[in-house]
Amino acid sequence: MDKSRSKILVIDDEPANLRLLRRVLGDEYETFAALSGPEGLDILRQQDICLIITDQRMPGMTGVQVLESSLSIRPEAIKILLTGYTDIQALIDAINSGNVYKYIQKPWDAEDLKLTVKRAVEAYDLRRANQQLVKELQVALLQLENVSMGTIQALADALDAKCDYTSGHSLRVSRYAVSVGRRLGLTELEMRDLELAGILHDIGKIGVPESILWKPARLTPEEQAIMAVHPVRSAQMIEDIPVLSGAQPWIRHHHEYLDGSGYPDQLAGDSIPLGARVILVADAYDAMTSDRPYRKNIGYERATFELRKYSGSQFDKQIVEALLSSVGEGGELLRAGGIPESFLGLQLNAVDPLQSGKQYLAESIRRAKAEAEQSVSPGAA
Ligand SMILES: [Fe+2]
Repeated sequence: MDKSRSKILVIDDEPANLRLLRRVLGDEYETFAALSGPEGLDILRQQDICLIITDQRMPGMTGVQVLESSLSIRPEAIKILLTGYTDIQALIDAINSGNVYKYIQKPWDAEDLKLTVKRAVEAYDLRRANQQLVKELQVALLQLENVSMGTIQALADALDAKCDYTSGHSLRVSRYAVSVGRRLGLTELEMRDLELAGILHDIGKIGVPESILWKPARLTPEEQAIMAVHPVRSAQMIEDIPVLSGAQPWIRHHHEYLDGSGYPDQLAGDSIPLGARVILVADAYDAMTSDRPYRKNIGYERATFELRKYSGSQFDKQIVEALLSSVGEGGELLRAGGIPESFLGLQLNAVDPLQSGKQYLAESIRRAKAEAEQSVSPGAA
């Protein structure tokens, strides 16, 4: 996206302030100025504005009121409030209502303002790009019931290409989960849900910037917080898809720990759905036995040791033992080049990890759509 033409709306009742804002931002962005809230909202209706910067103290309509009204016109626009020292309550209200990306205290510094605006525009671009991806994924997912399971496989491959250092993570997790499900004697429907949950559990990572996903070092606390939202996002992305309704809670809770110290809802013990407890163990085992951006795999024996060490605190002991009896204490099945069988009959695809995740994602979505069209066209098998 051409950031130089991103459109910014600035609202301030003081003409001198407006001129100053436009002078600071005008070189890089297309700026639109308004002397009042209603005038600003008119511009918002006509222009594809990505960022709104508004003064708080204005006669008639305050900045907070403008930002609230802007939600029904351009909900995706990023919002920045300019406030004086005396506007604390307005600020608290704005932050609590979730309408403000940032506030800038007056008098502002030009360089700080430029940096904040740059970050805000980047956040907007990322949000838009993600919304597009989510839309395309949902189209493909909605067709699930009409298409072969190859569609899910393409999505999983694409997700792994974007999100994981080693390819095939989602599909391996689903296989480990299915092997546990077999040993626990789950029903056919539960087995289907478990494999789908295994494949799609991290789909919300599509909203996490690649600079975090692919960071070749441990994440900072801020980056961890961004990552921690992914189970909720994964669950939200599939919530309207009937075929995935059983898998949905398992996806949402796949990072909950038995002792209640996991996320996103700090569930504990049996209140964590069984499928979520299975995905957690399968996910941890694959993470430990695959190379990651910041470390090599720790080996099968050590992974076995770690799973047992945290049995009862993080992991469900019965599930850990079921997985180990399936793959072997020393990963014997995997060392021999084997992998637990798919319940849905999916193959593991070889993904080229050097191919750009985004390119791969686009290609996989195209492939999935083509397959969907083929399968619903008259005469298709
Ligand atoms: Fe995850």
